[in-house]
Amino acid sequence: MRAMAGAMAGAAAMASPLRGRVRGAKALALAERARHRASASSSSSSSSSSSSSASDAAAAATADGAASWERFYRVHSGKDASSSSSSSSSAPRAASVRAFKDRHYLRREFADLMPASVLADPSAWVPPLTPSSLPPPETSSEDHKVILELGCGVGNSAFPLMRANLNLFVHACDCSPTAIASLVANPEYDARRCHAFVADLSEEDAPLRGVIGDASVDAVTGVFFFSALDAATFRRVVGECRRALKPGGVVLFRDYSVDDVKNGGRARGTRGKGGKGGTRGGGEGEGEGGDGDAGGLDLTPGENIGGDAWVRPDGTLAVFTDETAVTEAFHSAGFTGECWTVTHEVVNRKLGVTIVRSFLQGRFVK
Ligand SMILES: C[S@@+](CC[C@H](N)C(=O)[O-])C[C@H]1O[C@@H](n2cnc3c(N)ncnc32)[C@H](O)[C@@H]1O
Repeated sequence: MRAMAGAMAGAAAMASPLRGRVRGAKALALAERARHRASASSSSSSSSSSSSSASDAAAAATADGAASWERFYRVHSGKDASSSSSSSSSAPRAASVRAFKDRHYLRREFADLMPASVLADPSAWVPPLTPSSLPPPETSSEDHKVILELGCGVGNSAFPLMRANLNLFVHACDCSPTAIASLVANPEYDARRCHAFVADLSEEDAPLRGVIGDASVDAVTGVFFFSALDAATFRRVVGECRRALKPGGVVLFRDYSVDDVKNGGRARGTRGKGGKGGTRGGGEGEGEGGDGDAGGLDLTPGENIGGDAWVRPDGTLAVFTDETAVTEAFHSAGFTGECWTVTHEVVNRKLGVTIVRSFLQGRFVK
């Protein structure tokens, strides 16, 4: 049976007293303990104790997510990793950070945000933004929408969306000051179209209140963001989405699916020789902190901490999300809508295999 303990279904158990207190590296220690307990016994009392230990590990990794992700972006900005263990030790680097690929496929996948001209041919190239020569967004246009992008990183989702709809306005937040500094330093950054700010959404005292008004945005987007949260935090953020959205507004997200090969251990979901070709689709999630083991066919992201939750070697959390549990979390917060699984094939020429990736995509309406 697929254990749900590490993912969304264990929400109640994850409201642990350790939440917010157990920090950083302890996540990996807790993960180790959970793993030992899980393998030591198959009795129901032991499995419930290992499940709460796994929950504690997920909560600890979420609580330390801001520090772990800041370290991740500093490393990817070329800053010496060893001098970056404390996120407050020096100012964030406003350098270009290349951690992920631009997610141009969102033109097709987040259709709610696109003008008719883009929907007619979502694969057509759109030019980069040129703040010095572009007119301001037309707030009276029917394409004008205000978006809140959660966990925006350096803008690999936000910029492609803003390019494709010149009438969008994006509030983009992330817990990493280095990521936000890099986004703002991007030559495409235009304060008329984007407001980027640092916010740690794992904090319990409504980190977006005072920045994002009630019922003020048309859409909330999250691209490989929700997987960074343990179940209790996930539910709290869903509540925050509801607060921020206008009636009829939508949450659009894409994230890891429980069915993904990276959640399944050695070589599941791979086949044969890849032959010619390259990566198809967006390359979602590729290149994340220490994700995968390119030297063999162990594609898992790091240390399994129970169920479908993993802690990567850099301390960041990856929860592979479950369609039923995610839908339940949104519906119980008062949303309607659904999520579904999408797959695409990635040809890994080095390993000579074709890897089938599975992602979860969702559209929930307030
Ligand atoms: C896999 S990256 C995806 C970045 C971006 N959405 C994209 O499309 O490339 C996950 C992002 O979520 C951010 N994140 C993780 N936990 C967060 C938290 N508690 N609050 C705010 N942002 C968070 C990380 O800093 C990181 O930028």
